[in-house]
Amino acid sequence: MPRDETDLRLHVACIMDGNGRWAGRRGLPRTDGHTAGEENLAALVRVAVKRNIGWLTVFGFSTENWRRPRPEVRHILGLHEKLFGRVAELNELNVKVQWIGRPFDSREARTPKYVQRAIRKAIADTAQNTGMVLTIAFDYGGRSELVAAVEQARTESDGITSATIGEHLYLPELPPVDVLVRTSGERRVSNFLLWQAAGAAIYFTEAPWPDFDEAELDAALALAR
Ligand code: FPP
Repeated sequence: MPRDETDLRLHVACIMDGNGRWAGRRGLPRTDGHTAGEENLAALVRVAVKRNIGWLTVFGFSTENWRRPRPEVRHILGLHEKLFGRVAELNELNVKVQWIGRPFDSREARTPKYVQRAIRKAIADTAQNTGMVLTIAFDYGGRSELVAAVEQARTESDGITSATIGEHLYLPELPPVDVLVRTSGERRVSNFLLWQAAGAAIYFTEAPWPDFDEAELDAALALAR
């Protein structure tokens, strides 16, 4: 059943895997797969808005992804600049952008200034939107987030409880994940939203991320019913 008329304000989180394999099967360089992945994400945002999804969170770049070959990292960083630059499109869709990841001033953080600027600008330029919240995880790792939250809960709160840890996550207002999607046949959670996805249904699909379309999203949403 199409969910166009529903308003469940669901939180869907996606581990967008398989860009490299998608490209490899076509005889293309891996970077073309990431380019196709970014384009598919832009298309999927439109579908998610149509389905009245409340929150869409995507794993754009992990704390481990810095280990990839330099040219590939550079390409993926450029794609984030492109994605965060889609402000006109996002405003037209009434989508509010957020970012989740290691604070730019933390010891291990390596986010270059131009990506920081693109992130800050997208957040500011879409802040007034009241529709779906699109959260992009960049330089994100669930364990790093939890270590920082526990550390802050210990020093700034009365004690370590679920509530005080929750209050010190990178984005405390991010609601629990209803459905966690992982594409391309991998069946792992890979350090994504470990706290927020504690009770999530998980949708695994063989489709690589550039092929994750409307029908795939509907199949994932069916798990949340
Ligand atoms: C996995 O593909 C995907 C990533 C490493 C994350 C990057 C995601 C994108 C570039 C698409 C969305 C774009 C943005 C800007 C958020 P993989 O390289 O692990 O594929 P493989 O497992 O087939 O090698």
